Amino acid sequence: MAKKILRTRLCDMLGIEYPILSAGMGPSLVGEKTGAPVELVVAVSEAGGLGVLGAAGYSVDEMIAAIREIKKLTDRPFGVDLLLPGDIVAGGDPPDGGAKEMPLSALLKTLPKAHYEWLVKTREEMSLPEVELMVGLDATTFRPHAAVRACIDEKVPLFCAGLGNPGFMVKDAHAAGMKVLGIAGNAKNARRIAESGADLVVAQGYEGGGHTGRVGSVALWPQAVDAAAPTPVLAAGGIGDGRGVAAALAMGCVGVWVGTRFLASDESGAMDIQKKTILRATDEDTRRTYIYTGKTSRAIYNRFHDLWDKSGLEPLPFPMQVLLASAMVEMFNQAGNEEYVGPFSGQIAGMITEIKPAARILTDMVEEAVDILSRKLPESVVVGG
Ligand SMILES: Cc1cc2nc3c(=O)[nH]c(=O)nc-3n(C[C@H](O)[C@H](O)[C@H](O)COP(=O)(O)O)c2cc1C
Repeated sequence: MAKKILRTRLCDMLGIEYPILSAGMGPSLVGEKTGAPVELVVAVSEAGGLGVLGAAGYSVDEMIAAIREIKKLTDRPFGVDLLLPGDIVAGGDPPDGGAKEMPLSALLKTLPKAHYEWLVKTREEMSLPEVELMVGLDATTFRPHAAVRACIDEKVPLFCAGLGNPGFMVKDAHAAGMKVLGIAGNAKNARRIAESGADLVVAQGYEGGGHTGRVGSVALWPQAVDAAAPTPVLAAGGIGDGRGVAAALAMGCVGVWVGTRFLASDESGAMDIQKKTILRATDEDTRRTYIYTGKTSRAIYNRFHDLWDKSGLEPLPFPMQVLLASAMVEMFNQAGNEEYVGPFSGQIAGMITEIKPAARILTDMVEEAVDILSRKLPESVVVGG
């Protein structure tokens, strides 16, 4: 079959063949480094899309090593995604030379008393093991300025800000020949990110996996396109095949940013058990919750959600809630309590029935979108005039 052509102005901006980006997914459980590792980035970029490294769970040095590995494996463009909440960025980086790692048990003692006591009580009641993990305090999230500087020094082709507005680094990134992307969950933030000078805005709807807002994709995409204009917008949240790609392009988006579908690929960093959970999930099996990060994020529903709801506790600010949730999830993991563990995932999980190589996910999407957009419409649709 002849190779399909699917191009938008995004392809010219980024130097890619197809307007499909794999989302920068960080870790969704303790024990994994990232959902979107080097292997996924390279597979997607080599297949003609653009792969984005999920660098939120890395230390700055690990991120630099991963960037250099990608450059060795492909000469195609790629991206790096960081979580940069405004308050953490404004607070500046902690001074160098401090402890690079601390035991989670020591960090947990810095939590508010009620949260710490709840954790201890739950551990005792459920006979869970004490966990002794080392937590990297040199993670990109805790050292946002060093992490951004490293991306600029490495001249990463596309810098992606998963949380927060990347405006503070746009000038330096442009001077290094880079493009900058920010993610928004409503029209107001899409406009703000565009006004801050970013080159691209991702509009991520309510149904997406990971951190997510309150507006559904079909309502959000066209409103974000209007709000961000003339800055181009990519669609995210609920895209799992070529039908989603065609819908996004029909609404005026220049491309798509796809998470959950690429998490269920051979090359993603998700654990096998997480991939299987996604295959089993129906469209109703995810929930939006504050449990994991203190901000609303969507994950596969599991019994940890009920346990947290019953606790009556308020979620802690990001990233303190991450510490609490990480400890809990690791205890459940070590005790083999699988029904208390579920990965970040979007509602599109219900449509995913097969773990595939990332390149095939991408080419299947392209072929189906091209069929639809070249007017091979479903038989039930008649157009003319
Ligand atoms: C496992 C997982 C981890 C994620 N981690 C991040 C992250 O670290 N940074 C980020 O910008 N977005 C993250 N997201 C959100 C994705 O970037 C993307 O916006 C979302 O997955 C799109 O919706 P979809 O899952 O329906 O495709 C994550 C999503 C998933 C499923």
